[in-house]
Amino acid sequence: MTQELQGLRAIVTGAGRGIGRAVALRLAELGADIVVVDIDLASGRSIEGEANDPTTEAVEALGRRALGIEADLTDETSGQRIVDQVVAEWGGFDILANIAGGAITPFERSSASVIPIADIRRIFDVNLMSAIYLCQAAVPVLRNSNAASIVNITSLSALGTPPEGKLTGYGMSKIALGYFTRSLAEDVGPDGIRVNSVSPGYTLTGRVKANSVETGFASKANDAALRRLAEPADIADAVAFLAGPRSGYITGHDLAVDGFTKLR
Ligand SMILES: NC(=O)c1ccc[n+]([C@@H]2O[C@H](COP(=O)([O-])OP(=O)(O)OC[C@H]3O[C@@H](n4cnc5c(N)ncnc54)[C@H](O)[C@@H]3O)[C@@H](O)[C@H]2O)c1
Repeated sequence: MTQELQGLRAIVTGAGRGIGRAVALRLAELGADIVVVDIDLASGRSIEGEANDPTTEAVEALGRRALGIEADLTDETSGQRIVDQVVAEWGGFDILANIAGGAITPFERSSASVIPIADIRRIFDVNLMSAIYLCQAAVPVLRNSNAASIVNITSLSALGTPPEGKLTGYGMSKIALGYFTRSLAEDVGPDGIRVNSVSPGYTLTGRVKANSVETGFASKANDAALRRLAEPADIADAVAFLAGPRSGYITGHDLAVDGFTKLR
């Protein structure tokens, strides 16, 4: 396999499990050293269908360097602390993949007319502010890389309106993250830093599989032209493409990886 990311160093957030872990391992397979960031570095161990071994060990098993940093990314100081630690230990980095996030507040009270303000604040912290903190801390370091790339994770949910106006806070946070992505691309493009996003469709992580019947996920495959849900590897391949040299003239772009799913 081509080692197109050989010699590059990548920070991947939310890499304890799910899509973040798949991204970390894909970038490592392509030759990158990986900084695994998560609020719980072994977050997959309690979820059926997720790997039990820490992502750092899986990266090392692929022959790459790994650095694990446990951090709550909703803490405003976390981004700078992570960047400082990576610079101190590895001298810098080239790729930032902001994957941590999710629709973490209760689904049943997520409609626009009733969603608690506290839920909106919480979900903005987890999905939007977390990425902004890291992006702003990362930019001065990425200016020193000649392969600098940021990839943020938005969502198919932000591209349409789920039934009953559900997932309001989540959709708003991801739309805002998409806007921030484009603004940042415009801002730091002259410095040679590319900034893109990936919008996954319904993706079969361990967490999603565990509650796919109650959330109705299981039936969503019929809404996709490809008649299947995404695997974490589908999303990881898109992130790896945008992170690496094959997308060298692509910035400010959102890549939907959703099997052409129809939403209202
Ligand atoms: N799974 C899907 O169907 C789907 C669809 C569209 C978008 N997404 C997006 O993809 C990303 C990953 O989703 P996933 O399904 O793999 O989720 P997941 O819940 O399986 O994994 C999320 C990871 O992020 C970590 N995390 C959560 N809050 C954190 C915090 N405050 N600080 C540090 N780490 C934190 C968790 O510990 C976990 O390891 C999210 O941004 C999500 O919104 C997922």
